[in-house]
Amino acid sequence: MILSASILSADFSDLRGQIQQAEQAGVDWIHIDVMDGHFVPNITMGPFIVETCRQITRLPLDVHLMIEKPERHIAAFIQAGANSVSVHIEGNPNIHRTLQEIRLLGARPGIVLNPGTPVSQISAVLPDVDFVLVMSVNPGFSGQNFIPQVVDKIHEVRQLFDNLNPQGLIEVDGGITAETLPAVQAAGTNICVAATAIFKYPGGIAAGVRALRGAELN
Ligand code: DX5
Ligand code: ZN
Repeated sequence: MILSASILSADFSDLRGQIQQAEQAGVDWIHIDVMDGHFVPNITMGPFIVETCRQITRLPLDVHLMIEKPERHIAAFIQAGANSVSVHIEGNPNIHRTLQEIRLLGARPGIVLNPGTPVSQISAVLPDVDFVLVMSVNPGFSGQNFIPQVVDKIHEVRQLFDNLNPQGLIEVDGGITAETLPAVQAAGTNICVAATAIFKYPGGIAAGVRALRGAELN
């Protein structure tokens, strides 16, 4: 299981220390949640933070765009150091072109599905993505509860991928804890995102990563 640590719950007064602790604890990717106050109610980070993360770590930077008109910003995020860029199907009529551009610019393209969006909406682009990001909370904030109905969607995406793009990976984002991780992994998830369960874990970052690793199925 690839573990992608979302810095949305990190202590930004010590971003370097927080990322280094996560890296030493053995996370695989750093997940960066970009929100514009329009696509979702919250406003968070831009390319500048991605560039800062790039200076702090060599881990892959997994950029999740929750913004309107993402095509206007993908080049800036990739130049800043993004290794994968995921864009939502919702509200993006020209998503196919955007996914192609992400690949042309040298990053891995991912398509994101909100909890209320059926899997059928992404079937046309599945051959063109490296991964599907299945949201297991409504995007906007960390610290929300996992929506259990999403487990069925993960199965559905896996089946479609097996037919259309067997190499395709599934990433799950929202409410991932040691309790919720086994079910999403069993359903076919390859990449788990966690913010609260890593950066706000009561025993500290290393203990949080250990708890998640301990919950992984073999
Ligand atoms: C939610 C973000 C998630 C969030 C996850 O909109 O996309 O990446 O940081 O936070 P937790 O792990 O706390 O649910
Ligand atoms: Zn995210």
